[in-house]
Amino acid sequence: MSFRSGRHFLQIPGPSNVPDRVLRAIDRPTMDHRGAEFGLFTLGILENLKKVFKTEGAVIIYPSSGTGAWEAALVNTLSPGDKVLMFETGQFSTLWRLLAEKLGIVVEFVEGDWRHGVSAEQVESHLRADMAQEIKAVCVVHNETSTGVVSNISNVRKAMDAASHPALLLVDTISSLGSIDYHHDEWGVDVTVTCSQKGLMLPPGLGFNAISKKAIAASESNKTNRSYWDWKEMLANNATGYFPYTPSTNLMYGLEEALKMLLEEGLDNVFKRHDRHAEATRRAVQAWGLEVLCLNPDEYSSVLTTILTPEGHDADNLRKIIMDNFNMSLGTGLGRVKGKVFRIGHLGDFNDLTLAGTLSGVEMGLKLADIPHQPGGVAAALSYMAETA
Ligand SMILES: Cc1ncc(COP(=O)(O)O)c(C=O)c1O
Repeated sequence: MSFRSGRHFLQIPGPSNVPDRVLRAIDRPTMDHRGAEFGLFTLGILENLKKVFKTEGAVIIYPSSGTGAWEAALVNTLSPGDKVLMFETGQFSTLWRLLAEKLGIVVEFVEGDWRHGVSAEQVESHLRADMAQEIKAVCVVHNETSTGVVSNISNVRKAMDAASHPALLLVDTISSLGSIDYHHDEWGVDVTVTCSQKGLMLPPGLGFNAISKKAIAASESNKTNRSYWDWKEMLANNATGYFPYTPSTNLMYGLEEALKMLLEEGLDNVFKRHDRHAEATRRAVQAWGLEVLCLNPDEYSSVLTTILTPEGHDADNLRKIIMDNFNMSLGTGLGRVKGKVFRIGHLGDFNDLTLAGTLSGVEMGLKLADIPHQPGGVAAALSYMAETA
């Protein structure tokens, strides 16, 4: 690749840009993870993590990607042959289904059109139809990163309660935690799965499970063989701030700093910032005369916007043109929307001028790729940002 001056624009919906403060924090000598200092260091992180998940319960940190944290949630609470209810909101719910099936879990998979979130009515009707209460867990992806559609977890919980069904509620917040408001305790979530590289503004490499007392009770009676992912060993060691195996020490330095940043800004301000940048992005899309994939405005994602390219225009060609000319990465279409959409990530360490640069790159790319559109998307976003500054 030829030399490129200036900073790369990493505007995929995660991994997100890592703030300089976090990079500096990671760039410190590795410490003894069994030494006296480490226990206190971990306990401080676990306390602040609870504030971000909005839970009084335990949060577990794995040296893993998000997929590892998914697997951990399943192997701790479920056994082969157990049934779960999952919803096809997009590529990530589809992958979670495949992972569950590889573990021998039986998945009742409710098909979807990749343009809507989970319907609470469908949750309720499927649970009501399960007279024998064979469904052990309902698994939902909060922010479907492949589509830019958010499912309403509070409504899912209400539907489960309305059906008086005892299933656990497992939620993937991999691309929402720290960017979109989320309440583990208040919404009665049993396992919240997330990872480091999106709203938490870290490099990839940490996976998390926030777990309710009900989930811990389920794990205690669950006979599934597990070792690396076992909550029991983790919880016992975490009580004093240690781990059953070597944790990702330097990523935890970064985590400590990222949590400080989120709490300094204030979580409500962080969420408002994401909402505002998402609205500005949608105004640009509307001005271009293009279409957002998400069909229900109540389900628009504040983390990313997925945009359809007109019929016959390859979205990956547009992405390549933008990368080659403006050194900006945008998210590719995944699974069944490959080539049909591109995704703009507006999450994490991000401000008005980052969005201005991002949308400028897209608007110039649309022109270079000969994609039919109206000019003026950037201007629409800038007006909105100036009005709401
Ligand atoms: C919603 C969602 N779930 C799961 C994953 C998988 O996470 P990982 O790639 O870190 O294993 C991703 C990754 O982007 C995601 O966006």
